[in-house]
Amino acid sequence: MRKLEAVAQIGLSAPWIDKRDEELVLEVLRSGRLSLGPTGPRFEELLAETVSVPHCAAVSSGTAGLHLCMRLAGVGPGDEVITSPYSFVASANCAIYEGATPVFADIDAKTFNLDPAAVEAAITERTRAVVAVDIFGYPCELQELRVICNRYGLALIEDACEALGARYKGRTVGSHGHPAVFAFYPNKQVTTGEGGAVTTGSAEQYELLVSLRNQGRLETSSWLQHGRLGYNYRLDDVSAALGIGQLEKLDRILSGRREVAARYEELLAGLPLETPLADDADHERSWFVYVVELERGVDRDGVIRWLGEQGIACAPYLPSIHLQSYMRERYGFAEGLCPVSEDVSARTMAIPFHARLAREDQERVADTLRSALA
Ligand SMILES: Cc1ncc(COP(=O)(O)O)c(C=O)c1O
Repeated sequence: MRKLEAVAQIGLSAPWIDKRDEELVLEVLRSGRLSLGPTGPRFEELLAETVSVPHCAAVSSGTAGLHLCMRLAGVGPGDEVITSPYSFVASANCAIYEGATPVFADIDAKTFNLDPAAVEAAITERTRAVVAVDIFGYPCELQELRVICNRYGLALIEDACEALGARYKGRTVGSHGHPAVFAFYPNKQVTTGEGGAVTTGSAEQYELLVSLRNQGRLETSSWLQHGRLGYNYRLDDVSAALGIGQLEKLDRILSGRREVAARYEELLAGLPLETPLADDADHERSWFVYVVELERGVDRDGVIRWLGEQGIACAPYLPSIHLQSYMRERYGFAEGLCPVSEDVSARTMAIPFHARLAREDQERVADTLRSALA
């Protein structure tokens, strides 16, 4: 009987962890200062420097960061928060945490980011904030969105969870003054295990963030005195240590991801699919995932399943948030609310992608995808 040969698995993503990361984490473990020690602030300083922003507050996740931004914006019951349907659920959930209603404005079919005209059309007298997402690390239309937010007196929050290192109009995402949130789950460019950060140009917002993430303690209060309702959204020092190691090699991580993306662009040439939108003078992507868009009528889920059977992990990135079951049940959202997002959601899929993905693996992904689509 022929022995079945095990096919090597190609995962969807992989963090880049090296000896330096291990040493930094061990140092903290050995120090005994596992939380509220000196490593958290070191990580924050390095991140602030990387993003070129005066203030940076590390938090326990990107979701926590977005939630705190709702508090910064004063979002509360009865308010509406406009966001993108083509994102991870946290971009919308943060509004619900504060009793507000998420309102979905449709996306642009090319960038997959919020269409500013759709945002303006969705504004009502209840709108309090806009959560703009840099999806797949491609910067959103910050200038147009800022003009709209200023015109209507709305807070602009940037969900830059997928976009560390991206640039909009030549300046790093996160350094444009308004609060921006980063996330460090292991599929991100930089990981701390779980973790996130909020950057802002405002010292006042920074002080509030630091208090809110630390159970509402005030700068002047002792450990058991709390000046406001807060949360435990602190990032521990072990995670921060890993973050330092990651930021130290950020340039290598980002250029590795750029190279892998460029290789896919070559390998996938001629296939009946759209590869990710190229950069232009205003938008410089930080590569997060590699998402291709299949033609209408192709059984995308069947393609994903088939690749999975060949040991290649792919995922239907991203479902439209308003069509998630809890959103339909809670708000009565249905098909047709955001047609562009729904169309894109039905046709896009993420293929294996990380900074150190081997050329042979990429060739196997491309060949298998070619035969799936043939
Ligand atoms: C666009 C976007 N927003 C928010 C988040 C939430 O980040 P976290 O998983 O760290 O809570 C993520 C992470 O997957 C994301 O991709």
